[in-house]
Amino acid sequence: MTKTILRALKGERQPVPPIWMMRQAGRYLPEYRATRAKAGDFLSLCYAPDLATEVTLQPIRRYGFDAAILFADILLVPQALGAELWFEPGEGPRLSTITGAADLARLRPVAEIDATLAPVYQTVRNLAGALPRETTLIGFAGAPWTVATYMVAGRGTPDQGPAHALIAADRATFAALIDRLTEATIHYLSRQVEAGAEVVKIFDSWAGSLKGTDFDEFAVAPSTRIIKALKARHPGLPIIAFPREAGPRYAGFHALTGADGVALDQSVDAGWAAAHVQTGGCVQGNLDPRHLVSGGADLIAETRRIVRTFGQGAHIFNLGHGITPDADPDNVQRMIDAVRG
Ligand code: CP3
Repeated sequence: MTKTILRALKGERQPVPPIWMMRQAGRYLPEYRATRAKAGDFLSLCYAPDLATEVTLQPIRRYGFDAAILFADILLVPQALGAELWFEPGEGPRLSTITGAADLARLRPVAEIDATLAPVYQTVRNLAGALPRETTLIGFAGAPWTVATYMVAGRGTPDQGPAHALIAADRATFAALIDRLTEATIHYLSRQVEAGAEVVKIFDSWAGSLKGTDFDEFAVAPSTRIIKALKARHPGLPIIAFPREAGPRYAGFHALTGADGVALDQSVDAGWAAAHVQTGGCVQGNLDPRHLVSGGADLIAETRRIVRTFGQGAHIFNLGHGITPDADPDNVQRMIDAVRG
């Protein structure tokens, strides 16, 4: 029997949609906080295969999700390319910046990234051997645009201003950075598949700030290239794209990029997405993660509404973005019961 997530990504409608959750291994879980404390800090946890395997498995044990997502971070790729990376406690990621062609020239060649990323591949191998038979293993990477926004600014930004400014000032250098990241992402995801990932997901968390031809050139084109290359190397590999906050540009995204699944953030109206996105293939999402903080009748009503609205086609139940650290673990169980019950 084929796993439920793989059936959904083939376009199959199922009476009960399979479920997993972005950031399902994370700070809202006490067992995650304990393992993270053992590792010392977040990056050490990402690079310790035994501990990263453990935190990936924690939400599977607790809730029986239909998929496990590799525990790692999208910013490990820039680090593997030679960027400095650290996490400022209570704030977020910090990186050395890319401000022009000279910084780009200092990055390492793609062929050298495995020296840094080998522990991630080991985590994938561990998971492939440890997961329950019915659970799908999802690998992932950041999309080139989203990763580039962090590399250019050296941190997360509300409007991706520094990346947009580099596009305006030196489009050729920015395009060359996107090219390098596209090649690195193909290599990285291909290695994850060789290690046992059954699906891969491309996180373009800041796709929504790209407009017009910039969206075509820096969101659509790199994802299309990554998907084409991965499917050539791994025929039949299912791929999920997440062009977060793409709004109307979600329509046609399956056909444009070749993605089997498209993940919807919570700003997209489910009825609109059922009519204009799900017609192209499987969709995933789009519960607002704040319902896992507030709970109550709204959580149940919203969960049921999403299941019903996407009920005529292929759907993977998920959130519109990652679960937040202040979420109540009991609300996650209530959400799952509302989907399956
Ligand atoms: O979904 C999963 O459970 C898999 C693991 C995963 C993490 N990050 C673990 C993580 C995945 C898929 C990501 C993706 C990621 N990382 C994205 C794209 C998705 C999104 O959320 O938009 C981005 C933009 C990043 C970069 C990043 N990593 C930021 C901005 C932060 C700090 C913000 C925060 O939530 O603290 C991180 C840290 C991070 N990545 C944590 C986790 C569990 C929290 C680290 C901790 O334990 O303190």
